[in-house]
Amino acid sequence: MNRRPRRNRKSAAIRSLVEETRLSVKDFIFPLFLIDGVNQKVEVKSMPGIYRYSLDLMLEEIDDCLSLGINAFDIFPAYPEDKKDRFATESYREDTFYLKALRKIKQTFPQACIMTDVAMDPYNSDGHDGLVENGKILNDETLEILGKMTLAQARAGADIIGPSDMMDGRVGYLRKLLDENGFKEVSIMSYTAKYASAFYNPFRDALDSAPKSGDKKTYQMDPANSREALIEGQLDMEEGADFLMVKPALAYLDIIQLLHQQFPIPIAAYNVSGEYAMIKASAANGWLDGERAMLESLLSIKRAGAKIILTYFAKEVALYES
Ligand code: PBG
Repeated sequence: MNRRPRRNRKSAAIRSLVEETRLSVKDFIFPLFLIDGVNQKVEVKSMPGIYRYSLDLMLEEIDDCLSLGINAFDIFPAYPEDKKDRFATESYREDTFYLKALRKIKQTFPQACIMTDVAMDPYNSDGHDGLVENGKILNDETLEILGKMTLAQARAGADIIGPSDMMDGRVGYLRKLLDENGFKEVSIMSYTAKYASAFYNPFRDALDSAPKSGDKKTYQMDPANSREALIEGQLDMEEGADFLMVKPALAYLDIIQLLHQQFPIPIAAYNVSGEYAMIKASAANGWLDGERAMLESLLSIKRAGAKIILTYFAKEVALYES
């Protein structure tokens, strides 16, 4: 035996020399759930350790995270049922609470990178990402609403907008609209390959945003398909996306790798709510070591080719490393 791979594993010092992938809190975007009101911090039942914050407490949370080295945040507002309508009007109404909150967050922490989600579901009485008519999700009519939402978020100070709706043509449509309205510097992180997944349920609990009827299979991708991700990637490249995202992450490492090999812009992966809940639930039962499972899954997402990871574990990793 002249080749003994174990030699490169014989000590911690050598292992760290040959380590190809290293996690950094700088890779993370931390998703945060926002609610209206004051002094509110409510745990999401299916996501232990993750809370919905009112603005005052969210400012404290962001401050805390910044001092731990987390620089990027994705803000998701939760709206009560009586504020929702078919047209997701609250998503762009100028003095609605989440736009005021975004403005305040950006003013307080101009150095932070603030991302916002562009899709109708948190504001839509149908619970879908697009406009519903006779049980169908209308594509082009939805774009107009996404456009209003995008401009409202850009005006409030968003650095990156993240269209998560999976309507056709939205990246190009939103890029043009942003440019025409003086927001050339606002970036687009497209949810390029977003699958119709069972792993989003805890998120839908957090926002009470589950679809009232039907499912999202006519717009989100079929988990059976990978080549379709190349079409989506190609379109998003042509339409001007700054980042391509794959979602969920863990069951889709092949898709992360595929887009990483194919497209020369940064690839992001969304380590979604169900992936977080799975690890938390089994750790709570003592069935696995939650900390090690957390670090191993994030490392694997990075190894597959994701430069950026949206993860509910962001703060926990930062605390672990500090
Ligand atoms: C909204 C949106 C969803 C997530 C991010 N943006 C849910 C969905 O598409 O139903 C899921 C995130 C997660 O599960 O952590 N379009």
